[in-house]
Amino acid sequence: MRRLPFSRRSLLAGAGVAMAARRARAWNREQKIGKDWPIYDRTEEDALLGVLRSGKWGRIDGSRVVEFERQYRELLQVQHCVATANGTSALIAAMNAIDIGPGDEVLLPPYTFVATLNVILLQHALPVFVDSDRATFQMDVRKLEARTTPQTRAVIQVHLGGATAGLDESLKFTKARGLKLIEDACQAHLGEWKGKKVGTLGDCGTFSFQASKNLNSGEGGALVTNDEGLYDRAYAFQGNGRARKVTSATLSGWVMNGANLRLTEFQGALLLAQMTRLEGQSRTRETNAAALSKMLKQIPGITPQVIDPGCTRNAWHLYMFRYDPAGFAGLPRAGFLKALREEGVSGMGGYTPLNKEPFLKEVLSSRHYRKIYGDAKLRQWHEQNQCPENDKLCAEAVWFTQDMLLGEAKEMEFIAEAVAKVQKKAPELVKRG
Ligand SMILES: Cc1ncc(COP(=O)(O)O)c(C=O)c1O
Repeated sequence: MRRLPFSRRSLLAGAGVAMAARRARAWNREQKIGKDWPIYDRTEEDALLGVLRSGKWGRIDGSRVVEFERQYRELLQVQHCVATANGTSALIAAMNAIDIGPGDEVLLPPYTFVATLNVILLQHALPVFVDSDRATFQMDVRKLEARTTPQTRAVIQVHLGGATAGLDESLKFTKARGLKLIEDACQAHLGEWKGKKVGTLGDCGTFSFQASKNLNSGEGGALVTNDEGLYDRAYAFQGNGRARKVTSATLSGWVMNGANLRLTEFQGALLLAQMTRLEGQSRTRETNAAALSKMLKQIPGITPQVIDPGCTRNAWHLYMFRYDPAGFAGLPRAGFLKALREEGVSGMGGYTPLNKEPFLKEVLSSRHYRKIYGDAKLRQWHEQNQCPENDKLCAEAVWFTQDMLLGEAKEMEFIAEAVAKVQKKAPELVKRG
């Protein structure tokens, strides 16, 4: 058996937690790592009952959604905020406010949730993937230029997992080309770039409050912007196209096409309550993530995500690292995840390559797409749709979810211990097959 270049003791001592092994052992595998999610108490119960009893359940009648928009604006230090039914609809509102449509090309990363892609397809625009930087898990902004054509209208930069990278470059690039920059900050509540909240630096930013997110109302979303015109259009779009400043009592005031993407008062009330917990929870995640990285970094075969120095605050929606089987006697990632689960730690493999999704091929060969773009252009799209770095990233990534970072320090030690244990067992596991 290959000897590890550190003893368990030195792993933990090196991380500045000499007593960690003993403390970690006190944590037993039947206990859940982190906290049960969502976290709530009487604050949320009272908030929801308050809405129920008011009889004002929708934003048109009530005041909770408007109050949430005001507080979220203040929290992010941004001029405008419009709440939406979910993060996907915040992105749809962004697409329509910016007027992305058939014939337009939109640049996006391949390492993201499918919604980032779907909102482009819903406009019958052409998604163009920009390869990933495996170190940061983010879009490699150095590759934006090569994927840009005269038809490019916008870039969707995703702050994946709560971090971001190369935002100065993408802001500079989009500005110089007259392109719009949409920040998909659906996973990045309270994330910062050089001291400013992500989502507020591009033309607009979008957030998700879906159940797994760090700020949670079951479903929910928001678009933020400093551009008043964009805000007017996004606001109108989420309310079936009705202008923000309609004064007449008659059902009129439609200024554009739109949809009903409104957030309910129940969700607004829940968000106001959950927001009181956000800063404290974010700090806990930051402390735990830093401790975990310190320990995991010392394990050969484990490479924690590199955080761009410009990312002054990571929301830590996901804790991500790259797994190299070579450090684990050749144990494949699936075997590593299974063994880790047996040690009491649940990780997951994360995204598969979005640019290679079979459904995407189908959409692009549909009657509509062939009519809009023509066969030659679509053939070229397929030839150029290569993201080799992302393919590797998808094969080597391991994620832990944000709720796991809400535990105590000893739980982080338990995680690092579990990884080290799997490494020790790896030769045997490989032999067993
Ligand atoms: C990066 C990203 N974009 C968009 C979305 C869509 O948000 P929602 O699920 O609230 O519609 C998500 C949600 O998981 C996401 O992670």
